[in-house]
Amino acid sequence: TLRSVVRGVGSYLPENCVSNEELARTIDTSDEWIVQRTGIRARHIAAEGETTSDLATRAAQAALTSAGFDAEAIDLIVVATSTPDNTFPATATTVQANLGITGGAAFDVQAVCTGFVYGLTIADNFLRTGSAKRALVIGAETFSRILDWTDRTTCVLFGDGAGAVVLEATMGQGSIQDRGVLAARLRSDGRHKSKLYVDGGPSSTGQVGHLRMDGREVFKLAVGMVPQILHDTLQDVGLPFEAIDWFVPHQANQRIIAATAEKLGLPPSKVVLTVDRHANTSAASIPLALDAAVRDGRIKTGDMVLLEAMGGGFTWGAALIRW
Ligand code: ACO
Repeated sequence: TLRSVVRGVGSYLPENCVSNEELARTIDTSDEWIVQRTGIRARHIAAEGETTSDLATRAAQAALTSAGFDAEAIDLIVVATSTPDNTFPATATTVQANLGITGGAAFDVQAVCTGFVYGLTIADNFLRTGSAKRALVIGAETFSRILDWTDRTTCVLFGDGAGAVVLEATMGQGSIQDRGVLAARLRSDGRHKSKLYVDGGPSSTGQVGHLRMDGREVFKLAVGMVPQILHDTLQDVGLPFEAIDWFVPHQANQRIIAATAEKLGLPPSKVVLTVDRHANTSAASIPLALDAAVRDGRIKTGDMVLLEAMGGGFTWGAALIRW
C-alpha cells in the first residue's frame, strides 16, 4: 500500500507581532475581553507588500530544508488559501515559480479554515494513486487584508502566517503501524453560508470585500459538528481516542478547542495550542501548530497525530497521521 509520509514541516510568520493591548489603542476592545473569550494574546500581521505567496514560499522552503529535499523533487504543490495574491493565477503557481520548480502540477484549494485538511487529503489521494511522488501542502493566509478593522467582533480574532508539510509516497504494510496519512474525512454544508463569508468577490461585487461572521452561531456549530467527524475518522481505522498522542486542531478559539477535546476525552496535555500567539490564521493554523510542536520536540516520528478543522462554507474535516 502506498502511504503519504510526512518528510518535513516548516512555517513562517510575518515579523510584525501585534498584541491585544496594541489593538485596544485603536479599537474599542481590551486584552481581558479577547483573552477571556478566545485565548488570543497576539497575532502577526504581514507588512505592506508582503503577500500570501511570500509567506507560503518561506514556509515551503523551511519544510523542504527539514525534509532534506531539493525543490526539484516536488511534483505537486497544493496551496490552501482564502486570501490569494490575485484572483488568478493560483498562489500555488507563484510559489512554484518562487521555488524554481518547473515540473509537476500546482493549484490552490479553497475551503477557508479547513483548507489545510482539504489540501492534505487531496495530496494524499494523488500520492496513494501514484499521480505524484512528492507533494508540498501549504496553508497560507493574509487575513489582515480582508478584515474590517472597524468591526471589533471580527478583527481581533485573526492573524497572518503560513505553514507547510512535505509528503512523500512510500510503500507501507497497509496497517495502522505504517507511517503516513492513515485516514481522512472531508465534509461541507453550503446552507450555512450566511454565518461566515466575505461580502465581496470577482463575480459578485467586483471588490475583495470583508469577512463577516456570526460568531455565536459559528461557535455552536463548531462544537456540535466536529466531534462526529473525529469519531468517524478514528472508526475508519478502528482506533480509540486513547491511541492519539497529539491533537492538532484548527486554532480559532481556545474555548472551542477545549470543549472539543473534553467531549472526546482527550487530556489538555495532548492538545497543541498556538491560538494564543498566532490567533486564527485560517488554513495556515494547523501546519503552523504542527511545526511548533515538531520543533519543540513534542511530535516525534511514530506518534499518532489527529488533525481537525472547521471553517467557512461550512467545511469541516479530520485527518489521522502516523508521524
Ligand atoms: N472587544 C470587546 N467587546 C466585544 C468585542 C471585542 N473585540 N467583540 C464583541 N464584543 C462585545 C459584543 O458587542 C457583545 O456586547 P453586548 O453584549 O453589549 O452586545 C459582547 O462582547 C458579547 O459578544 P458575543 O458575540 O456574544 O461574544 P461571544 O462570547 O459569543 O464571543 C466570539 C465572541 C469570540 C467571536 C465567539 O463567538 C467565537 O469565538 N465564535 C467562533 C468564531 C470562530 O471560530 N470563527 C472562525 C471560524 S473559522 C473560518 O472559517 C474563518
